[in-house]
Amino acid sequence: MANDSAELRFPGKDPISLPILEGTLGPQVIDVSDLARHDLFTFDPGFQSTAACSSKITFIDGDKGILLHRGYPIATLAERSDYLEVCYLLLNGELPNKVQKDDFVSNIRHHTMLHEQLSSFFNGFPRNSHPMAILCGVVGALSAFYHDSLEIKNPAHRELAALRLIAKMPTIAAMAYKYSLGQPFVYPKNSLNYAENFLHMMFSLPAEPDTPNPVIAAAMDKIFLLHADHEQNASTSTVRLAGSSGANPFACISAGIAALWGPAHGGANEAVINMLTEIGDVSRISQYIARAKDKNDSFRLMGFGHRVYKNFDPRAKVMRQTCHEVMEALQIHDNPLFKLALKLEEIALQDPYFIEKKLYPNVDFYSGIILKAIGIPTNMFTVIFAMARTVGWITHWNEMLGSPELKIGRPRQLYTGTLERAFVPLEQRN
Ligand code: CMC
Repeated sequence: MANDSAELRFPGKDPISLPILEGTLGPQVIDVSDLARHDLFTFDPGFQSTAACSSKITFIDGDKGILLHRGYPIATLAERSDYLEVCYLLLNGELPNKVQKDDFVSNIRHHTMLHEQLSSFFNGFPRNSHPMAILCGVVGALSAFYHDSLEIKNPAHRELAALRLIAKMPTIAAMAYKYSLGQPFVYPKNSLNYAENFLHMMFSLPAEPDTPNPVIAAAMDKIFLLHADHEQNASTSTVRLAGSSGANPFACISAGIAALWGPAHGGANEAVINMLTEIGDVSRISQYIARAKDKNDSFRLMGFGHRVYKNFDPRAKVMRQTCHEVMEALQIHDNPLFKLALKLEEIALQDPYFIEKKLYPNVDFYSGIILKAIGIPTNMFTVIFAMARTVGWITHWNEMLGSPELKIGRPRQLYTGTLERAFVPLEQRN
């Protein structure tokens, strides 16, 4: 992997040779891991220039708007594959053949039920809890129930944990929603596909079973697929960091859910709808664009901008198209929120501030609008992101545990605090 080297000249030290690493795609990487031996550290808050690991799972070229999973472009996968097939691809590195796919789907179906005792956990939460709070708690609690998938050095245990997590997330998510409504939990129905089953558990009632609309189920599957993985983002890096200490998979995924919740990350889809509702009318868009551009105002246009994509977010392109298809299929062109979103997008894309800073709509801008249109409550948006991203998190966790690079994650710091000083007894302090 290392072909060449860079030389670091540092005052008072001999030149230090740093290997240059080549990936299969992407920029060259300077290996600074040996610097600590020279009593030097690098400083990079927010990891803007730092690769924390090597990985074979997902590749992003933010300038060109490219996103590949195991080498396949996201738009191709969205058009020709489905969510569970992409899960298999991420986990195993290859697309499944027919037998492998049937086997995988059947395995996921086998694990959709939750241990019945877990249902009583929900009663401990206030009815108005945010479902992400419930998700963090219940997913972490899985480790108390599934002892036969906790040996992280055993690949068979890791595989079982992955299947369980992918299969049980929709069940837990729908239960969190049902709990908030005071409605009975709906058990999974394994004759349905993954997306249909989620919609069934969300919207069926014992007295009134719901037959999922195929257009909505297909849109849901696409939303899952588009969120399946995204390289070393904040939540995935959190899962890796938690996992690097040897923590169990359920605890690690719970940590990832917590990191995803923030509005700068997975919470953005919910924040987009809140923002559009606050804007309320096309006539007020310019006022909010002005606020987003004002350095003294902390307001940002939610669903715009990305740390890596400085061209269009390729997921957003597919999501935008899906958004139109859903609106068409459900005959809701006059949806005021959708019209407002399209106008906001149009105005922002022509504004010099957004053009100069390369701020484009990201995946969350459109996903929130679709989810809203198909009747998913706003506070469930980030939960759906978490469900879909679980496969990405667990794939990265698994890759890390199987890698010879594995080391506990332990960043260093640039200390800017007080120098060592003498302790003053309480009675002598001012
Ligand atoms: N509205 C207005 N200005 C913005 C926005 C925005 N949405 N995003 C970035 N900027 C400005 C920012 O003020 C800064 O300006 P300046 O250079 O004058 O200080 C410049 O653009 C660069 O922004 P940054 O915060 O340094 O960039 P970042 O890479 O640290 O942040 C981001 C990326 C996604 C957190 C940010 O664009 C943002 O807060 N967007 C809104 C939240 C959002 O939609 N998040 C979802 C991200 S996609 C899904 C996911 O990954 O979970």
